[in-house]
Amino acid sequence: MKVLLTGGAGYIGSHTIVEMYAAGRDVVVVDNFVNSSPRVMERVEEITGKKTPVYNADVADEAALDRIFAEHKIDAVVHFAGLKAVGESVRMPLEYYANNIDSTLALLRAMKKADVRKLIFSSSATVYGTPEKCPITEDMHTGDCSNPYGWTKFMIEQILKDYSHANPEMQVILLRYFNPVGAHKSGRIGESPRGIPNNLMPYITQVAVGKRAELSVYGNDYPTPDGTGVRDYIHVVDLARGHVAALNYDKNGVGIFNLGTGVGYSVLDMVKAFSTVNHVPVPYRIVERRPGDIATCYANSEKAEKELGWHAEYGLEDMVRDSWNWQSHNPNGYED
Ligand code: NAD
Ligand code: WQD
Repeated sequence: MKVLLTGGAGYIGSHTIVEMYAAGRDVVVVDNFVNSSPRVMERVEEITGKKTPVYNADVADEAALDRIFAEHKIDAVVHFAGLKAVGESVRMPLEYYANNIDSTLALLRAMKKADVRKLIFSSSATVYGTPEKCPITEDMHTGDCSNPYGWTKFMIEQILKDYSHANPEMQVILLRYFNPVGAHKSGRIGESPRGIPNNLMPYITQVAVGKRAELSVYGNDYPTPDGTGVRDYIHVVDLARGHVAALNYDKNGVGIFNLGTGVGYSVLDMVKAFSTVNHVPVPYRIVERRPGDIATCYANSEKAEKELGWHAEYGLEDMVRDSWNWQSHNPNGYED
């Protein structure tokens, strides 16, 4: 089976290539490197011993996709390509709507022409907005997103539901990721954000490595055990394996799955675990809440266990150890 990964050079995509090969799948990548480095592919080759065909193209470029589908007999597509920075999406909504939605529409048209019927889409827990309860199940209300990025995920989910309704031969799988962290155990691939990290774990690792002075903890007055925000952090290798599992799902229509661990940790849990496991201090200061943040968010992932035969295997210690292994060996990410 040959799988096209759009955005395959990104953080989650690169880890997914490794797990696809480990499961005996063949991979082709299309990425325009708007948020990744071409060096990622050399590192993936080091780990896997495989040379992955890579097309440097925008997924919104339908003609480029047509060429890829003509040159490879693709059985399934995993659609990672998209812009993902929440704050940036508030400042640049049109760029976010255009990039994320146009690329999806072009991909669907090209898939239709090439008669490719299986699509796995990178959705996000952000589609649940402020959940009325935790753990979150897939049937809970979606919408009320707090930023344009989140709305692109919500809208693409709707587009894919409508498209699947009109094309009953399609198999569409919406994977709603919780908070991916960690890195491949080799320390050769990992998360390499451009500029100041938005997300907690890359911020922690950059403080630990001395690139930033201290972590700002956004609020300690939430209704959580220690007052700081609680999230469901999931090891990126577990997440990558969730995509491999989804390839075997062969029901027509739309399957929706949460990919999380089912366990919530607070910001201070993360800081403490990171310092304790890695023996590195992480200076922090409590500051104001970040607008748009919610108190608590964690998954019920039983549906993925039952229907995909997938569950997360790595725990908090693995996540903080592997995040640090990556950052300490690559202080500037792929930029060295
Ligand atoms: P990433 O930015 O590391 O990877 C995305 C990749 O897509 C990058 O390599 C980028 O260059 C590429 N890309 C973007 N727009 C493109 C386009 N128009 N054409 C071709 N390539 C394009 O992000 P990631 O963390 O690996 O996330 C992958 C997917 O998962 C994204 O859709 C993201 O929204 C979603 N997601 C991420 C998280 C997270 O916290 N990392 C959580 C939930 C969902
Ligand atoms: C986690 C916790 C912060 C940074 C975002 C997107 C979501 C998804 C994953 C793509 C929160 C706190 C953070 C910092 C902090 N992405 N924090 N200091 O907000 O749960 O989710 O990424 O789909 O859509 O919204 O993740 O890592 O930004 O924050 O105190 O410097 O860490 O307040 O409680 P979040 P995060």
